Amino acid sequence: MEVILTDSASLAADAVANEILDALETKPNLVLGLATGSTPIEVYRRLGAAHHKEGVDFSKVHTFNLDEYLDLPGDHPQSYKYFMQEHLFDHVNIPQDNIHFPPSEGDNLVRRCREYEQKIREVGGIDIQILGLGSNGHIGFNEPTSSLKSRTRIKTLTAKTIKDNSRFYSDGEEQPVVASTMGIGTIMDTKRILLQAFGKKKAEAVRNAVEGPISSLCPGSVLQLHPLTTFFVDSEAADLLTMKDYYLATIRENDRLRAEGRL
Ligand code: GLP
Repeated sequence: MEVILTDSASLAADAVANEILDALETKPNLVLGLATGSTPIEVYRRLGAAHHKEGVDFSKVHTFNLDEYLDLPGDHPQSYKYFMQEHLFDHVNIPQDNIHFPPSEGDNLVRRCREYEQKIREVGGIDIQILGLGSNGHIGFNEPTSSLKSRTRIKTLTAKTIKDNSRFYSDGEEQPVVASTMGIGTIMDTKRILLQAFGKKKAEAVRNAVEGPISSLCPGSVLQLHPLTTFFVDSEAADLLTMKDYYLATIRENDRLRAEGRL
């Protein structure tokens, strides 16, 4: 696991967006795993700008979103479909047929969750997965105690997650308590993971995920077993990490080796 201590969320967004744009140059049919929440918004803004200003082509890209609230239709402002449309899909040229979400309405959810996994396999797996981190350590909607090998399925949300996300709902508005989400096993199968976590409220989850024991109580901690994961954390989110000096030294040495053309 690589930990990048970033001076600002904006520098992290630059790094994440640039890695996606570089990958897109070598693989126009890139398969992206996408996250929602406030954390990745700046990355999506940069991808939209790259399309508009530099003509970057997304027409062969496939996307798979991590999660969606159960029974919120796509035109509901709090649905993740709506969020993705607003922050990314309206600003790039990804064909509608290439955009995928886990099933969140109707029946046969178990079967359709299996089909979602199948669709991911059919396009050759997810090349780059963008992730945020819940303040309780969840990834996607894989709440604490989720099976570390879980696949796409329906999950009930914890009281903490419901409270964290209540800021998006107005008083009296009904908030979903169930969602469909890629499993932790699904996320672990992705080839590259770029996780961003910013702000004080993520500090404990970041510490548990990066330096804690691997435990379903902090689903993000399983990423320690992923061969190509980078955590981008700002100073507030990094506050409780004990090995900050080492992470900084690693960045320094990697930069030096890269400048020497040896990496
Ligand atoms: C939601 C999403 C997660 C996201 C998390 C953090 O619960 N299901 O995928 O990582 O929120 O949200 P934020 O980025 O707003 O802190």
